[in-house]
Amino acid sequence: MNKVVISGTGLFTPPLSISNEELVASFNTYVANYNARHQAEIDAGTLTALAESSAEFIVRASGIHQRYVIDREGVLDPERMAPRIPERDNDSLSVQAEMAVAAARDALAAAGRAAADIDMVIVACSNMQRAYPAVSIEVQQALGIEGFAFDMNVACSSATFGIQTAANAIRAGQARAVLMVNPEICSAHLNFRDRDSHFIFGDAATAVVLEQADKAVAAECFEVVDTRLATVFSNNIRNNFGFLNRCDESGIGAPDKLFVQQGRKVFKEVCPMVGEHIVGHLESLGIAPDSVKRFWLHQANLAMNHLIVRRVLGREASEIEAPVILDRYANTSSAGSIIAFHLHGKDLVAGDVGVISSFGAGYSVGSVVVKKC
Ligand code: COA
Repeated sequence: MNKVVISGTGLFTPPLSISNEELVASFNTYVANYNARHQAEIDAGTLTALAESSAEFIVRASGIHQRYVIDREGVLDPERMAPRIPERDNDSLSVQAEMAVAAARDALAAAGRAAADIDMVIVACSNMQRAYPAVSIEVQQALGIEGFAFDMNVACSSATFGIQTAANAIRAGQARAVLMVNPEICSAHLNFRDRDSHFIFGDAATAVVLEQADKAVAAECFEVVDTRLATVFSNNIRNNFGFLNRCDESGIGAPDKLFVQQGRKVFKEVCPMVGEHIVGHLESLGIAPDSVKRFWLHQANLAMNHLIVRRVLGREASEIEAPVILDRYANTSSAGSIIAFHLHGKDLVAGDVGVISSFGAGYSVGSVVVKKC
């Protein structure tokens, strides 16, 4: 079987950002307007007044300070609270493909690869901007890649599931090299009117080039030592948006057609699941957790990551061992662990082992054990 390496990674960060303070100011204006509009019902006890959000709470509960977004104005407008992303005509590159292409070019350059070297493109992320044609095929065409492409969605875990799929295709000889991209426009599925979650997400795209180890030309590579995936059904992170929505008019535009979660339950259930998963994966490979140089974890919540690494290492991890990017990026779904890998992998030396791990809706968890070449 062909040995597989990650020979390049890429990142697209939107140029616009929103601080917690800006987000909270907009949310609290919405709350004040709502409560004023419904003052009579609130006074009569037939309606509960909305509560304000706070920037201090957001940092304390999540570790997030700001997020990058495709559009600021629409999100911060208290009368709208959704990004404004104009539709494009069918002959223009779609927004999601554009982000994907930017990250992909970065990854291809790092790998020292051209479009002609790639046989397969995977777009793996939480939300596709349309049903079809597959966004991945649009990305394939925009980059001039031959071969084949397909989309896949395993929510926040999409990147590790994408890496396993890509690695298996290379091992099996079905592709020489694969481009796996994670364009996440999370601001478009986030309910900015929901106090419990309005601060959670940001937008970004990441890309990974994988190829046969003995053909790689990149200056730096990570061998994909092994991958392990697991899923267990849960409704605690759910989004009911879909093509059946129009078949029941009563649900159109309802909050469940956006991201909804039971944050506390997710926290309690997912942390042990991920901890056990990584411990079991390392054990199966005979790798002592303490010898792992770096954990590039999914970036949803800082306390969650602390807990998971404590479970794996039996002690606190330094920020060098488990890098944090969610303070600037917030939760960028499938892109999060790859952003951490992209920004915090270059200092490792040959032989160093690291773990990329993503987790989220499904529930789903994936781990990729890599070794610096
Ligand atoms: N501003 C101020 N206070 C807020 C608030 C806000 N925006 N949102 C909630 N609160 C309040 C609550 O009302 C509650 O008050 P109470 O104690 O008086 O009842 C308190 O803060 C705690 O709320 P809770 O929802 O239990 O917060 P939490 O500590 O669980 O943090 C999350 C919330 C979402 C940050 C956290 O649960 C989380 O990150 N969970 C995992 C999420 C995750 O990884 N999801 C995966 C997505 S891919």
